[in-house]
Amino acid sequence: MEDQTAELSLRPRYLAEYIGQAQVKDNLKIYIEAAKQRMEALDHVLLYGPPGLGKTTLSNIIANELGVNIRTTSGPAIERPGDLAAILTNLQENDVLFIDEIHRLHRTVEEVLYPAMEDYALDFIIGKGPSARSVRLDLPKFTLIGATTRAGLLSAPLRDRFGVVSRLEFYTEEELAYIVSRTSDLLGVGIIGEASSEIARRSRGTPRIANRLLKRVRDYAQVRGDGIITEDIAHEALERIQVDPMGLDAVDHKMLQAMIANYRGGPVGVDTIAASIGEESQTIEDVYEPYLLQIGFLQRTPRGRVVTPAAYRHLGLPVPDKS
Ligand code: ADE
Repeated sequence: MEDQTAELSLRPRYLAEYIGQAQVKDNLKIYIEAAKQRMEALDHVLLYGPPGLGKTTLSNIIANELGVNIRTTSGPAIERPGDLAAILTNLQENDVLFIDEIHRLHRTVEEVLYPAMEDYALDFIIGKGPSARSVRLDLPKFTLIGATTRAGLLSAPLRDRFGVVSRLEFYTEEELAYIVSRTSDLLGVGIIGEASSEIARRSRGTPRIANRLLKRVRDYAQVRGDGIITEDIAHEALERIQVDPMGLDAVDHKMLQAMIANYRGGPVGVDTIAASIGEESQTIEDVYEPYLLQIGFLQRTPRGRVVTPAAYRHLGLPVPDKS
């Protein structure tokens, strides 16, 4: 997991600065306002969707808009029930607890979370055998924000305890171009003409990728040009980084090509694809596949993944006749 804190200063801090995800944002604005008027904790929120779309950013914005503290952790980081109990008992009234990768919580930890989410309480068993008794400890009211790339991996009892469930979508090219312009301003780098659109087009619908490409293009502009990012500079830099005009990188190409060369374009199971290119199945499902599905280069069928004619054309390959 990469460190997400280093980039916090580039991130928007208020909903009004946050570009895209209009529906999620509009709904959250109302729920936040209502919770503030009632002086209550916001209901628990589950944010899900592919990596890099702004789940962490949005969680920080929610806490900021509510005017409360945010405590950030992740599913795998909470090893034992006692770790979670320690975090929960240290929260202040109406604080946000952000758990990234919440689908990776241990089952024993998850069970502590149920009464905490539902009743703001911790249940303990004290003693053993016939004299054992259950003790309940009240917790401050709080908002759990869970983030996951895959809502489907959450257990039903956990999923059911979130009052707000929002799915983040890939961004449009216009939205990404705005984000690139905004980040350029914050970095103090000039970007002109269609350069921000050129970067946006190759960012596979993902702000994290757009901002990463922008930084590489900025380096190129500084060393090879006069520091200003023009459309030509952006184009040259992006060609060298090996992201193609649709934003596909070396792994996307390797995956599509392996499916075509070894499995006649599918159907082929994701585990087989993963093994043939030396990637984790989970990475393919979470990181690579969602965008390829979104742009219609891949299809999911009951028998496995299939490369579409659009992908063959994009790769400059003849579309096979499968009849
Ligand atoms: N930087 C990264 N994601 C952003 C977003 N959605 N809006 C504004 N700036 C961003």
